[in-house]
Amino acid sequence: MILIASHPPRLPKEKSVSMSWMIDVAHVTYTYPNTERPALESISFQVPPGQFVALLGPTSAGKSTLCYCLNGVVPRLFGGEMKGKVVVAGLDTYEHEIPVLAQHVGLVLQNARSQLFNVTVLSEVAFGCENLGMPPEEIRQRVTEALALTELHGLEDRQPSTLSGGQQQRVAIACVLAMRPDLLVLDEPTSELDPLGSEQVMKIVARLNRELGKTILLVTHDTDFVARFADRVLVLYQGHLVEDNTPRNVFTNQTLLQQYRIRPPQVCEITFELLSRGTPVTQMPITIDEAVEVFKRLEKDGQ
Ligand SMILES: Nc1ncnc2c1ncn2[C@@H]1O[C@H](COP(=O)(O)OP(=O)(O)OP(=O)(O)O)[C@@H](O)[C@H]1O
Ligand SMILES: [Mg+2]
Repeated sequence: MILIASHPPRLPKEKSVSMSWMIDVAHVTYTYPNTERPALESISFQVPPGQFVALLGPTSAGKSTLCYCLNGVVPRLFGGEMKGKVVVAGLDTYEHEIPVLAQHVGLVLQNARSQLFNVTVLSEVAFGCENLGMPPEEIRQRVTEALALTELHGLEDRQPSTLSGGQQQRVAIACVLAMRPDLLVLDEPTSELDPLGSEQVMKIVARLNRELGKTILLVTHDTDFVARFADRVLVLYQGHLVEDNTPRNVFTNQTLLQQYRIRPPQVCEITFELLSRGTPVTQMPITIDEAVEVFKRLEKDGQ
């Protein structure tokens, strides 16, 4: 966790005011120090509590920068110039310090290894709570809960650096869950993992949304997963929010996918290929389950 280390103990968790939006980004334009072109330009969107949002876009689109805006690291740590307003869990990121925001917004980055520095999994997951000066019993409860949610039982005494990539990423997720955040922001959490590690991490992300109702903002190139679990897709391109739509509308729009260099789920790629060969696919699948149905029907129709 990058957020809490140097702060004085016992910051109260400021109650989020009652809110209709978990994320409210209004007219945000942000330019990093010593750069000319804004990394984000005129970004506005709102996310209601409990929604699962996927943030897609090619490299340098501004996805990570937008994630950093949500926990206040931009502009507080990075500096630069920011216009507009970001309100998360009812808290304006201009008005609240990063350790306060960290209790509402958990940010998980791509490279878990770089975020873990404690000697055991247990001390790693407890670290953020300890830094906020929480009582030991509360820390114990929170850590137990976070380890259960990330299925890390039995690994409490292991040194994080000896774990697999997928396990390390789950430790990073447990660290932010111990803060009991309202919103989880995950920036390409599986891009450095093998398929098994990715599957384990994504399963947990999906469960946090579906079973615990956590609001999720996930940056990923794993559009197969997005098609199965996300409610909504935002597309960033060259610092602009160019699309805000359902996964289905995004993944079935070949022009949009090509224009913004987004690779759709594999079943969409196969279906585009079939269509280009003249196969009369009338309904475009975006998940494997849907594809099975569509292809069965085609077979029945003798195509
Ligand atoms: N610390 C920084 N200082 C200056 N410019 C930066 C900094 N970090 C990012 N940028 C620039 O801001 C723009 C957006 O970068 P960002 O990392 O947010 O994109 P991204 O969509 O996350 O890309 P990727 O898919 O490669 O992770 C890019 O032009 C990048 O070069
Ligand atoms: Mg990035």
